[in-house]
Amino acid sequence: MQYSQKVLDHFMKPHNIGVLENPSIIATEGSPACGDQVTFYLQINDDSHVIEDISFQSYGCASNIATASIVTDLVKGKTIEEAKEVSWKDATNELDGLPPVKLHCSVLAIDTLRLAIKKYEIEKGLRDPEPFSKDVIIEELRSVIYPQAGEDIITLKMVKYVRLDDDGTVYIDLDIPKFDQNRSTVVDEVKEHLEKYPEIKDLKITLA
Ligand code: FES
Repeated sequence: MQYSQKVLDHFMKPHNIGVLENPSIIATEGSPACGDQVTFYLQINDDSHVIEDISFQSYGCASNIATASIVTDLVKGKTIEEAKEVSWKDATNELDGLPPVKLHCSVLAIDTLRLAIKKYEIEKGLRDPEPFSKDVIIEELRSVIYPQAGEDIITLKMVKYVRLDDDGTVYIDLDIPKFDQNRSTVVDEVKEHLEKYPEIKDLKITLA
């Protein structure tokens, strides 16, 4: 697998690695694609909402370490509003790219950062906890990457239909051609991404 020099540099000498003492917030996420995990520790100024310090611990692959490392560099000194604008594509570009099958590592790092910020905002009363809805499902599907194109399945318009019934049944129609070798991987990833929501009682995926 071909990694850029920047990925190798951040993997071998990660920035901001370890545990922060007395962080404002801690968040851990696992990647549904591979089971790897990452934890972020954030020190946030309660008045200015600037991320004054950030560190991470990785339980994953080389790209997991490299993307978490670059994300800490990208958001340190930013306000939480600015940090929320940093995307997995920004992190990937900053590393001079990642192999397509490793793009989900970058998604994991950004998802974990956003989870940490969301937890902080809820804890500080800056936002209400999100009620479960179809929008939450669609937002989650934005983290499912179609490896060949390096884009998420919502942007690629592969998700044709999403419905959430009152009894917790979710219907998703996916448009992925029969001969596509990524078909089962994408379906498995959709299932794994949605597994964490206890509100979903049944998941019915239909393939075009
Ligand atoms: Fe899953 Fe890197 S985080 S392979």
